[in-house]
Amino acid sequence: MARALVVSNLVKEKYAPVVFGELFGNSNSVEMEIGCGKGKFLVARAMENPGTNFLGIDRISKFMNIGKTRAQKRTLPNIRFIRAEARAFLAEAVAPGSVIIFHIYFPDPWPKRRHQTRRVFTAELLKLLHVCLVPQGLIEIATDDKDYFEMMKKTIAATSELWENVRETVNERILGGAMKTNYELKFEAEGRPLFYAELKKR
Ligand SMILES: C[S@@+](CC[C@H](N)C(=O)[O-])C[C@H]1O[C@@H](n2cnc3c(N)ncnc32)[C@H](O)[C@@H]1O
Repeated sequence: MARALVVSNLVKEKYAPVVFGELFGNSNSVEMEIGCGKGKFLVARAMENPGTNFLGIDRISKFMNIGKTRAQKRTLPNIRFIRAEARAFLAEAVAPGSVIIFHIYFPDPWPKRRHQTRRVFTAELLKLLHVCLVPQGLIEIATDDKDYFEMMKKTIAATSELWENVRETVNERILGGAMKTNYELKFEAEGRPLFYAELKKR
């Protein structure tokens, strides 16, 4: 069971390893969304891809429970939600080479400099994502915050040897058309410029 230790304003958490075959009851491929919020995107993607398993994690259960309810109403067998802090969960619970796509959409930008250590996308996260991906696996990223996007690009460039391909456009086959996240819809309605990237593991 998870053990939480409070260190300054960050919660350091411990997780038992998750065996995807046991969690989903089959050996299908797994996609994960980090910071899934209300789970709108993941539920829609799980409905469209019944032969793939989907795991949403978020450190706050309040909104994620809305996603759980959405999935239950549709009796979707291929989606699970776990309340977890991303870095600790990836480091302790997710097996290396076990995820085909990571989705990270509109992570909180924490624009004030003194809050930026709270950002989920860090060099450490990127290395953990790389370890947990299968070869040729993908990381799909979206943000509305140009400064955060620039920081992401610098972090990605610093590990360029890990990636077969990096592109700065949305992958329409994954996040496009009706397949939008809650925050994507909100920011589009506000007319904000949005930034996308896709990494393919070497
Ligand atoms: C702005 S919301 C975006 C939600 C959703 N991806 C979307 O696009 O609609 C960011 C989410 O990331 C979650 N989050 C922030 N830091 C996290 C962390 N370290 N681990 C897991 N989830 C995190 C927040 O709780 C929040 O639900």
